[in-house]
Amino acid sequence: MSRDRPFWHSAQRALPLHVIRDRICAITNSSDLPLSVPTAIEQRRSVRHFNPDPIAEDVLQHLIELSVMAPTSWNLQPVRMIVVRGDARRAQLAEACYYQPQVKEAPVSFVFAIEIGSWRANMDAVIQIATDAGAWTPEYVENYRKFATGSQESLGDRLREFDTKDALIVATHLALAAESLGLGSCFMNGYDEAKVKAVIGAAERDDIGVSLVMPIGSPSQRGGNPGRLPLSQTVFAETFDSPWKSA
Ligand SMILES: Cc1cc2nc3c(=O)[nH]c(=O)nc-3n(C[C@H](O)[C@H](O)[C@H](O)COP(=O)(O)O)c2cc1C
Repeated sequence: MSRDRPFWHSAQRALPLHVIRDRICAITNSSDLPLSVPTAIEQRRSVRHFNPDPIAEDVLQHLIELSVMAPTSWNLQPVRMIVVRGDARRAQLAEACYYQPQVKEAPVSFVFAIEIGSWRANMDAVIQIATDAGAWTPEYVENYRKFATGSQESLGDRLREFDTKDALIVATHLALAAESLGLGSCFMNGYDEAKVKAVIGAAERDDIGVSLVMPIGSPSQRGGNPGRLPLSQTVFAETFDSPWKSA
């Protein structure tokens, strides 16, 4: 696939899905992969110990491509994924994450950063790509430009919060894609933001926020499923006074 072409649209993939699937089976030595989405969701656990084996380039590339297919508000894509693989930087990142073992051990950690306010500079490119893909008409673009701009401008101090939502959706895509390809992950809030920014070369950037750190790799240990509160406590039918009753 040409690397200078965006792949927001699956039809733009040069490789058919069955070829990608065969490649994954060959790399991972498993014909059971990729796992289905429901299986990946059920099976995923936070992994806190990893084997040192590197992630194959093909697999890493595929994970990145699947992650950026995540939706973002107005498709404005404020999320920046920083792939940390070098030994020295991984060690610095582990320190910034209070020496949590999963960052020390994982061959790759992703830092999910947001470039707050980048929507202004990116809007024209977003429109161009969607128009070239045949997804947006000129009429849609006219409205989009007006309403997306108005909506982003009205957010004020909440822009960071809204960009963070996008980052967590991209990170969730990565975690589930990794699980489906036989790898493990851990969502992580436990870091010193200023230190992580220094590690990724953004110490001086006030417009960059760090939303999450996520180590990825082949698990050497998997924790048990800690379970969830009863649905009657966390899910409601229509209103808060009506706890969900399972069928
Ligand atoms: C936003 C977020 C931040 C988290 N931060 C950390 C962390 O810094 N360190 C850690 O060991 N686990 C972290 N976790 C993992 C949670 O402890 C874990 O998801 C939870 O206990 C449920 O376990 P499970 O992921 O195996 O289902 C985090 C999870 C989320 C969603």
